[in-house]
Amino acid sequence: MCGIVGYAGHRPAVDVVVGGLKRLEYRGYDSAGIAVVADGALDVRKKAGKLANLQAMLEADPMKDASTGMGHTRWATHGGPTDVNAHPHVSSRGRVAVIHNGIIENFAELTAELAEQGVVMTSETDTEVVAHLLESTLEQAGDLAEAMRLACQRLSGAFTLVAIDAQDPDRLVAARRNSPLVVGIGDGEHFLASDVSAFIDYTRDAIELGQDQVVDLRADGVVVTDFRGQPVEVTPFTVTWDAAAAEKGGYDLFMLKEIAEQPKAVADTLLGRIAPDGLLRLDEIRIPVAELREVDKIVIVACGTAYHAGMVAKYAIEHWCRIPCEVELASEFRYRDPILTRRILVIAISQSGETMDTLMAVRHAREQGARVLAICNTNGSTIPRESDAVLYTQAGPEIAVASTKAFLTQIVAVYLVALYLAQVRGNKFGDEVAAIVRQLADMPHKVDLVLDTLEGVRALAEQFAEAQSVLFIGRHVGYPVALEGALKLKELAYMHAEGFAAGELKHGPIALIEEGIPVIVVVPPPLGRGVLHEKIISNIQEVRARGAVTIVIAEEGDEVVTPYADHLIRVPACPTLMQPLVSTVPLQVFACALATAKGHDVDQPRNLAKSVTVE
Ligand code: F6R
Repeated sequence: MCGIVGYAGHRPAVDVVVGGLKRLEYRGYDSAGIAVVADGALDVRKKAGKLANLQAMLEADPMKDASTGMGHTRWATHGGPTDVNAHPHVSSRGRVAVIHNGIIENFAELTAELAEQGVVMTSETDTEVVAHLLESTLEQAGDLAEAMRLACQRLSGAFTLVAIDAQDPDRLVAARRNSPLVVGIGDGEHFLASDVSAFIDYTRDAIELGQDQVVDLRADGVVVTDFRGQPVEVTPFTVTWDAAAAEKGGYDLFMLKEIAEQPKAVADTLLGRIAPDGLLRLDEIRIPVAELREVDKIVIVACGTAYHAGMVAKYAIEHWCRIPCEVELASEFRYRDPILTRRILVIAISQSGETMDTLMAVRHAREQGARVLAICNTNGSTIPRESDAVLYTQAGPEIAVASTKAFLTQIVAVYLVALYLAQVRGNKFGDEVAAIVRQLADMPHKVDLVLDTLEGVRALAEQFAEAQSVLFIGRHVGYPVALEGALKLKELAYMHAEGFAAGELKHGPIALIEEGIPVIVVVPPPLGRGVLHEKIISNIQEVRARGAVTIVIAEEGDEVVTPYADHLIRVPACPTLMQPLVSTVPLQVFACALATAKGHDVDQPRNLAKSVTVE
């Protein structure tokens, strides 16, 4: 949520910053802005709307050359998406410009204080207050890094801040609390960004800033301290993917590329975790085996798509490990005062590793004494750093706002954790674990097979572009798949879409069924729990009898469903618990194609941002 870029080095800063913003635009696209120091004064340009608007402005009236600069792409929180509210914000005497990701919770109190000193706010943002505070602190402290440290001590809330001083043009100073910030280390140049994709063209060497740290960045060096000015030790890391992974690579959309990458993402998530004997080696789970044996309950916390992955995982965890499992929306978790003990394992699932709701749930769980295991896709991000252990999904960068490959890899990663628990606790014999691991290892190929058959799904989606509403139903693990299909359609096509447990329809939602309404049905494998298959056939009949048009996702060879399907989408046969890995894929493509038919920006849907760093 909000993308931040900073640069100090030998290249033209404006080009580097705009290039970085292009890579980070998925984090917010309500407005964009840039600041450099030229001829001893700040030059700030900002524009509401997508980055292209700012680029057009810069083309019409180029900025002067500078070697240091910073830029911002915004997802609006305080104040609407206007030119004035766009970042950077400049202090009243024009000395300091600031960009910000997060929320300054005490901004009202600080605004009142500044008003007494005669400062008049020009925007509706919480960020502007920091620019004024920083300027007055700088006038006393005489040094931007010291001023930033002092100012941060007065701020509450979540923030990444970057500031530039018109009187000190070769330097950027940034601070981090609860919002992401990484530093890129180049040769005679340094970068700041919300994530590494902003500078991956120039360097793969990076350091992740910790909580409450300030970085003083120049072309020839970086100094990191805490908010009191004490030097801190930093952990460098190397980004394992390259610039090509953050580009469209010949696809029209990032989402299409990421859907196509799913077989590899699933395979990579399994890689190195299966021993030659077929058992699991999860060295990353640094929670002692003795403690894992004592776990008497698992609680999964996550948001959105990751929450749906957790819902799928619950079926596997309870079936394989015989451990009770609850799945909870991270945003609700800490507010209901959950009962947590040392014997409860909390699994936090997050692609970005920065989702504030999930992070707060993690903190709450640890404060209450529970162990937390993170399932995450972003190396070095906050959630894994604050958890007891982490198992990384290996999906590579996910740029499209709608999550696709992360979802599949999250399911695989939690399945690995579940099987590992079953293995170390003795709920399953070694040969049983190895047999399920073989099923998982078959899935990249099966997902590949699905990808080869999706032309019909695209054509079908276009037929429903004018539908008022689309319903999704499923049973067992098909139920969270139905929820995920509906979420994808809502966020991309801006249509009313709802997912239901098929058995729940008759308890109310069936009243929504009217002539011609499309109902997408995720049919469980007939060889799984036979009764589930029979029951969903009845559910299909119930909606058809009331005029629904049924779009049925069923495995190859399942002919029983054929008479009940107005449209049939085939997926390869798989064991029941593996089916979400194939049945989700047509739903992703359906939503993508339908949104494209409606002319929407699929990679950057309205009102959304990729990494939700506010609560
Ligand atoms: C939907 C989507 C979101 C995210 C949710 C959690 O397509 O992407 O629902 O799944 O915001 O994000 P992470 O996984 O980064 O915590």
